[in-house]
Amino acid sequence: MRTDTRKQHWTFCLFALIAAALWSSPGLAQEKKSLYERLGGVYAIATVVDDFIERLLVNKTLNANPAIKAARSRVPKAGLKFSVTAFVAQATGGPEKYAGRTMVAAHGHLNITEKEWGVMVAEFKKTLKKFKVPQAEQDELIALLATTKGDIVKK
Ligand code: HEM
Repeated sequence: MRTDTRKQHWTFCLFALIAAALWSSPGLAQEKKSLYERLGGVYAIATVVDDFIERLLVNKTLNANPAIKAARSRVPKAGLKFSVTAFVAQATGGPEKYAGRTMVAAHGHLNITEKEWGVMVAEFKKTLKKFKVPQAEQDELIALLATTKGDIVKK
């Protein structure tokens, strides 16, 4: 009888230890989902990109840059939305593969200034707000965007 009680005690302790390990280890029970998953996958990303590109296409500051304006009328917007969606999906950890040009090759000829970059970020924030993207995911997306700045804004 006493041995049984002791056994129960140790079994309980073992369970408690395993539960504590699972609870505290991000690699086990609480593995963090990718940004892609937290955003809702490719359909949600495509929806956000669609709204964002539509805003950029009519933006007065961006269209005042003749190189951007010329590219706008030459490049079909559906293709641009597709490419940007694939880029964001890949960058956020999704299975889609971006097969377009590098950011330098795609933007070098556009002479994008600091001011134009700032306008683009402001429009992106409006889109994120419109779709009620949670603050943590917004921050991660803005940080991701910032990693491309050096390749996109002219030196
Ligand atoms: C002020 C900022 C930006 C402007 C004005 C802009 C504008 C453009 C334009 C006009 C094109 C088409 C260029 C051409 O084919 O001649 C383009 C392509 C592209 N942009 Fe941007 N862009 C900006 C920022 C960004 C950022 C931050 C990203 C990614 C996070 C991005 C991703 C892309 C991609 C993936 C393509 C397609 C490249 C390809 O066709 O191979 N752009 N952009």
